[in-house]
Amino acid sequence: MKAFHIYGGVPLQGKVRIQGSKNAALPVLAATLLTGEDCTIRNCPQITDVEHMICLLKNLGCRVRHVSDGYRIDSACAKPHDMSGEAITGMRSSLCMLGAMLARFHEVRMEHPGGCVIGERPIDLHLKALAKMGVTFSQEERVLVGRTNGLHGAQIALAFPSVGATENILLAAVLADGETCIQNAAREPEIEALCCFLTSCGAQIEGVGTDRLRIQGCKTLHGAVFTVPADRIVAGTYLFACTGCGGEVFLEQAPWEQMQAVIALAEQMGAVCQVCRDVRCAGCGFSETCAGLYVQGPDRPRAVGRVQTSVYPGFPTDMQSMALAVLAGADGESVVQETIFENRFRVIEPLRKMGADVRLRSSSEAVVRGVPRLSGAQVEAGELRGGAALVLAGLMARGETVVTGCDYIGRGYENIGKDLKNLGARIVSGYFTKT
Ligand code: EPZ
Repeated sequence: MKAFHIYGGVPLQGKVRIQGSKNAALPVLAATLLTGEDCTIRNCPQITDVEHMICLLKNLGCRVRHVSDGYRIDSACAKPHDMSGEAITGMRSSLCMLGAMLARFHEVRMEHPGGCVIGERPIDLHLKALAKMGVTFSQEERVLVGRTNGLHGAQIALAFPSVGATENILLAAVLADGETCIQNAAREPEIEALCCFLTSCGAQIEGVGTDRLRIQGCKTLHGAVFTVPADRIVAGTYLFACTGCGGEVFLEQAPWEQMQAVIALAEQMGAVCQVCRDVRCAGCGFSETCAGLYVQGPDRPRAVGRVQTSVYPGFPTDMQSMALAVLAGADGESVVQETIFENRFRVIEPLRKMGADVRLRSSSEAVVRGVPRLSGAQVEAGELRGGAALVLAGLMARGETVVTGCDYIGRGYENIGKDLKNLGARIVSGYFTKT
């Protein structure tokens, strides 16, 4: 099985360019279905979740061509088609095809995307909101069926600011008849990116960036060219890697304005962060505008007392496991509280195998007492961000760490092994046969 072999204890040095955002690219790719025209989506991350989304679009009859750093998608000939199989059940983000399919075809048949290791992942908020817009849902064994005679605007107050539900409502509302208002909408930057793409296609959306969105439905949308913003979670991953291992790195294109809570925690742990608007090019000496984040890591991270995940702009749940990994080597005790998902502490077990002193105080709270050095071990990734956390722990640990289950990590990271190697880490990806 695919594995990373890591020899820890090396401070990181150098520069890494941050990839396009997985969680921004996926709903935007789904939204290309709404135009029936040519859309070019640039800076798309080359990750398996994007490949799965492209497969879904091709199965619907979209013509997809690779362009230099993304895809050109022509959805003129798209037709409704049952969506099932691994690309659906194995990938929560296929859920945003729900709103896109209903807006374009007025029908959808989709195998329920199902839960995953971090939680049951219900879709009640999606279904309730779309039903208010004129959709009738039924269940045929494991297949979710949605039909509408025509979507109409609605007043929707979300019980929880669900990212996915906000995306599905947006995708339905932009082609609905009349006005839709979403109260308690998610404010994650990925929502803003989707609104930006939809607006470039001619959609009328007010309140972008706030928790109250007002959408005037249009008859049609036209094609557009869109560049996916940088991935704030991938940037946070390398920020925390440097915080855990020490050294100095430059995260090129890091969307620092969307990372305030993550930067604040890194600084609490002892990192020194500096926003960069331009970087003097080493060779020719002329200044080029290159947004990014310069980070100096501490010799040893400090404990933080308490950190709690919350919706944006709070500390993101997707960074929680990686915070645990860094705090496992910190000087002191910290409490990490998870408030978004009900089962997002699975990484505790493999971290303990690496010598971490971390335990659950309740189902939503973990207590971690930092140890001077973690010890290398063979550990298995159980999901995307937990896998990234184990890689960070391996970079901090003494000796060799083998992280298996790397396909999970490839769902969200283009090439974490190469990125970290370019920062001086001793990491190789290879294969591992269980002994
Ligand atoms: C998105 O998932 C992201 N995925 C997740 O990133 C991220 O952790 C999450 O938002 C929160 O920021 C993508 O964008 C593809 P939610 P999503 O709907 O939309 C409950 C990663 O690692 N809920 O905001 O599924 C739900 O159970 C992934 O990149 C309902 O109860 O998240 C959860 O407890 C992991 N009913 C909470 O809301 C619903 O109908 C947050 O879910 C929908 C959600």
